[in-house]
Amino acid sequence: MTEQVKRFIRVDHAGEYGAARIYAGQLAVLGRGEHAATLQHMKDQEQVHLDTFAKLITERRVRPTLFLPFWNLAGFALGAATAALGPRAAMACTVAVEETIDEHYSAQEAALEDDETPLRATIAKFRAEELEHRDIGLANGAEQAPGYRLLTAVIKAGCKAAIRISERV
Ligand SMILES: [Fe+2]
Ligand SMILES: [Fe+2]
Repeated sequence: MTEQVKRFIRVDHAGEYGAARIYAGQLAVLGRGEHAATLQHMKDQEQVHLDTFAKLITERRVRPTLFLPFWNLAGFALGAATAALGPRAAMACTVAVEETIDEHYSAQEAALEDDETPLRATIAKFRAEELEHRDIGLANGAEQAPGYRLLTAVIKAGCKAAIRISERV
């Protein structure tokens, strides 16, 4: 296994971990609201993504990022904070996160060689679900969130920084 593949598994594990925590944070605030079932659906899918990469981390002996405890807190805080701004801001957070992950997974799919076909298929499947999440966000008023452009720009920048850190550390 190349160093690049190890890096991919490490960062994807971290990202799916963070994603599950974001939806947990949103559910902590909006768990009784009209979007509860939608948020739970996305959280359940993130949990499958996370379990898959947790298994790969173990099977392929990849060291997880040292930042997991931080992503635990930061993910939950991001989810809860955006949900506290309202359901539309929570959906704007989803759009920002999932668009960033879509780009991230696309780049990995392009970079993986044919000896990693199963991993590439896993990433492609998850990427399709991340795009479904983005579409759910858009369908639920994300773009009507106050300060949508600034909010999504800040969250995307944060996600990209998190990706860079989790690839390396
Ligand atoms: Fe995911
Ligand atoms: Fe997602």
